[in-house]
Amino acid sequence: MPNPTLQVIVASTRPRRVGRSVADYIVERFAAHGGFEIEVVDLAEVNLPLLDEPHHPRLGRYEHEHTKAWSATISRGDAYLIVMPEYNHSFNAALKNALDYLNAEWRGKPVAVASYGGVSGGTRAASAITEVLVTLGMIVSNVAVAIPMVQSHLSDGRFVGYPQVDQAIEATHTALLTLTRGLTGA
Ligand SMILES: Cc1cc2nc3c(=O)[nH]c(=O)nc-3n(C[C@H](O)[C@H](O)[C@H](O)COP(=O)(O)O)c2cc1C
Repeated sequence: MPNPTLQVIVASTRPRRVGRSVADYIVERFAAHGGFEIEVVDLAEVNLPLLDEPHHPRLGRYEHEHTKAWSATISRGDAYLIVMPEYNHSFNAALKNALDYLNAEWRGKPVAVASYGGVSGGTRAASAITEVLVTLGMIVSNVAVAIPMVQSHLSDGRFVGYPQVDQAIEATHTALLTLTRGLTGA
């Protein structure tokens, strides 16, 4: 049986964001631990407009090509890791918009969060998005990554890990793989 597909969703879409370098670092670590086929889904590249579908997403009656393409992308995932910043004590708008676009594509699938920010490590944003993920019927990992003072762990624009964050990444990988295997039988 092939490895399940983990999609690492890069939530920040800002120019000069740190999100992509944090995601790249986590992808490297996850790949070293094995067990998943990993695909990066970068919301800056997906570039969805603000939700513009006339029907409720649970009906799956998508009219726009960008929604059909987004649905096809997320349908490929067996599990997700959301790499997300904290903006004004909550999640960023592009992430919420991307989640709102779909419904059945998310349902029943495992998800973990890797948040980052200032002193809070993005934990307020992670708590806020958990309610959304549960509402979408996702199975939310109780193990997560939180990176405080993310800006001080950059070197030449690349995120540089340290033992505590590496431990959290490994624990999150293990939790996500256990959930995914339990749910898919993979
Ligand atoms: C609009 C905005 C709001 C922010 N609000 C918070 C916040 O509430 N808490 C926090 O820890 N950091 C906050 N920050 C700082 C971000 O954590 C930091 O800029 C981080 O690099 C943002 O991630 P990104 O570069 O991947 O977009 C905020 C940044 C922006 C741009």
